[in-house]
Amino acid sequence: MAIIAQLSDIHLAAGRDGEVDDGSGPVRALRAAVSSLLSLPARPDAVVLTGDLADAGKPAEYARLHALLSPLPMAVYPMCGNHDDRDEMRRAFKDHPVIAATGTSARAPVQYAVDVAGVRLVCCDTTVDGHAHGHLSEERLAWLDAVLRDAPDTPTVVATHHPPFPIGMRFIDDLRFVDPAGFASVISRHPQVVRVISGHVHRASVGSVAGTVSTTCPSTYRQLFLDLTKQGRAAVTGEPAGFAIHLIGTDGTATTHFAPTGNYRPLMDVDVE
Ligand SMILES: [Fe+2]
Repeated sequence: MAIIAQLSDIHLAAGRDGEVDDGSGPVRALRAAVSSLLSLPARPDAVVLTGDLADAGKPAEYARLHALLSPLPMAVYPMCGNHDDRDEMRRAFKDHPVIAATGTSARAPVQYAVDVAGVRLVCCDTTVDGHAHGHLSEERLAWLDAVLRDAPDTPTVVATHHPPFPIGMRFIDDLRFVDPAGFASVISRHPQVVRVISGHVHRASVGSVAGTVSTTCPSTYRQLFLDLTKQGRAAVTGEPAGFAIHLIGTDGTATTHFAPTGNYRPLMDVDVE
C-alpha cells in the first residue's frame, strides 16, 4: 500500500522587496501543512505538490518553498500550476533528479513518472504559457499515453494541476482544463489508472474522467467560496486549509482522505465492543 500525500495551491508570495516574509500567511500555512504530515501516525511514502506553488513564479518564492519542504524526509514531487514559472521552479529544484531530468528549456513541460512504494505516480503539466486555463497538447497526450503503456499492470495515479471535470464554480470553470476529451481518451485506454488527482480549485471535490474517480485538493493556504450560482462570485473564504491523502494498493484499490491542516491528536479511545 502506497500512501501519497497531496499538498496544493501553496501560493508563496514575495513582497515588493522581492522577499517572502517569514510571517506571511502562505508561509505559516505551508509550515503547518508540513507539520501536519509529519504528525500523522502513518508517514506518507511521497508528497506530490499539484501546482501554484509560487504566487508569481519568483525566485525567492521557490527558494522559500524549497526550504520549507526540507523537514519532509520522504520524496517530494513538485508540479506546475498556472501561477508557476517552469524556469524558476527548475532552478530551485536543480538538485532534484526527477525535475532535472525534465529538461532545461522553459518550453519543456515539467512531466514525469515515478515509483512510489510499488505504485506509479504520473505527473502531467497542464499549464499553458501566458494563460490561466489548462490544456494538454497532442505531444503531451502522446507522452502520457506512452508512459502509461510502459507499465500496464501497475496501479497508477495521474496528477494534473487543472482538473479534467467541471467543478460548477463559474470562475474556476472559466479557467478550466480546455478540451479534456483527449485526456479522457488516454485514461480510458489504461485501466491501471485508479485515480486522477488535481489542484487549482482550492477546495475538495470529486468527479470522474473516463469512469476513473478524479479529485481536487484543498489549498494549503486559502479556500475558494463555494458559489454554484450562474454568476459564480470569485472570492476566498475562511474555511480551513487542508490536504489529501491517497491510499493506493498494489492490488489496485484506491481510497482518498481529505483532512484539515492541524496536528489533531486522539481525544479519547472509543470502545469498539
Ligand atoms: Fe491556485
